[in-house]
Amino acid sequence: MSSDVSDYPRPHARLHLNAFFPFGPVYLWDEVDRPERYYEFDGFTRLAQAAERGLFTAVFLGDSQRLREHLGRITDTAVTGRPDQLVLFAHLAATTRRIGLVATFNTTYSDPVDLARRIATVDVFSQGRAGWNLVTTHNAWTGENFRRGGYLGHADRYRQALEYLHVTRRLWDGEAVEFSGDFYDVAAPALGARGPQGRPVLFQAGESDEGRDFAARHAEAVFSRYLEFDAALAFAGDLAGRLTALGRSRDDVKIFPGARIVLGDTAQDAQERAAWFDRRTWTDRRVRAVLESVWSQDLSGYDVDGPLPAGDPVVPEQTVTHGVVNSRDQPLATARRWRELASARGWSIRQLVAHLNQSQGFVGTPAAVADRLAHYVRSGAVDGLNLLANGVPEGFDDVVDRLVPALQERGVYPAEYAGTTLRENLRAGAVTPVRP
Ligand SMILES: Cc1cc2nc3c(=O)[nH]c(=O)nc-3n(C[C@H](O)[C@H](O)[C@H](O)COP(=O)(O)O)c2cc1C
Repeated sequence: MSSDVSDYPRPHARLHLNAFFPFGPVYLWDEVDRPERYYEFDGFTRLAQAAERGLFTAVFLGDSQRLREHLGRITDTAVTGRPDQLVLFAHLAATTRRIGLVATFNTTYSDPVDLARRIATVDVFSQGRAGWNLVTTHNAWTGENFRRGGYLGHADRYRQALEYLHVTRRLWDGEAVEFSGDFYDVAAPALGARGPQGRPVLFQAGESDEGRDFAARHAEAVFSRYLEFDAALAFAGDLAGRLTALGRSRDDVKIFPGARIVLGDTAQDAQERAAWFDRRTWTDRRVRAVLESVWSQDLSGYDVDGPLPAGDPVVPEQTVTHGVVNSRDQPLATARRWRELASARGWSIRQLVAHLNQSQGFVGTPAAVADRLAHYVRSGAVDGLNLLANGVPEGFDDVVDRLVPALQERGVYPAEYAGTTLRENLRAGAVTPVRP
């Protein structure tokens, strides 16, 4: 890390934090196997209000249109029965004042006129704080939900997304839309009202060539997969190249990888807390669900603190695994890889699954994590983080109370919201001048 701030390419850059409520296997509630807790508004409200106290840029929600299942059983306990994002945001619009509200929706299985109106409604009610994270979603199992006769091929998904976005943006601009394309034939009257930021803010998540091009052309922020420093820098460089070719600048698109942050009084204390979260996350039921999704058989009698099953997985006729395991993976090859790794490290099933699904992030003292993040942001590797909550409702308190002041001291975090709309806050540049 450079000790002299002026050595960095972006010495005055600031960090953004988004409050990310994920829907994957992370520890969120004390009783992780009680998904009905997703419907307890108080938990969401307290998280969002804590994030706002910490001057977070937005609340960010991921999406999935289908429960993950295997052998007729739901396999992902954290996903079950999630609330509708925009209904939740209507509630948060009334219980927060400055923080942005970014919802993920896919363009493959929804309709532009309908979605444009719903996001615009949240934008108006929140006085300019709404955003849309546009995804295209390749999951075949999601397509099965929608009676559309299969799902679009990869290239077509982004062509459809482009038409979708075109219709959406014209509606957000206050126009009546007459549009006829390859995928949509729309005649829609203008929306009744516009919020103070005009168009809601556009995020995008998708990492193929087409996905990155789409982001470079249209997005104002991307949700990226890359947090490891060199990979993050390489991704930022790739995006910057695409942006320059299009006459846009790197600052026009903010990059947010997902991350968790676990703080402690000492480095060791932080590591112990991180291990505690991991133990809470990987309940017997969750570990077994991951195992069964590869082995395709009932392993309910299995001790997840013991070794992997000796027998090979059943290879199901159906080639699409409904979630958890990447649909491109082959069960036999996956089992072989897992066995090699577990035996090399002496791991139980639980340890293996926890390792394979580890959330990337920063574990350390507030000062150490703040130094690291200042290095990331001044190097241009990221602009912000989609920060996973460590539990509900207190999951951001540590970051707000201990990390944010350390970031402010280093001149990489603001002392107040720059504006009232999400776009103003997202685009706000340098914060307090950095002391030489
Ligand atoms: C960091 C990241 C987060 C994503 N989050 C979601 C999500 O919440 N819901 C969803 O349906 N797809 C999500 N996607 C998937 C994208 O929609 C897309 O379908 C997938 O990455 C394939 O597109 P690509 O070929 O351009 O990468 C995410 C992708 C990335 C890279």
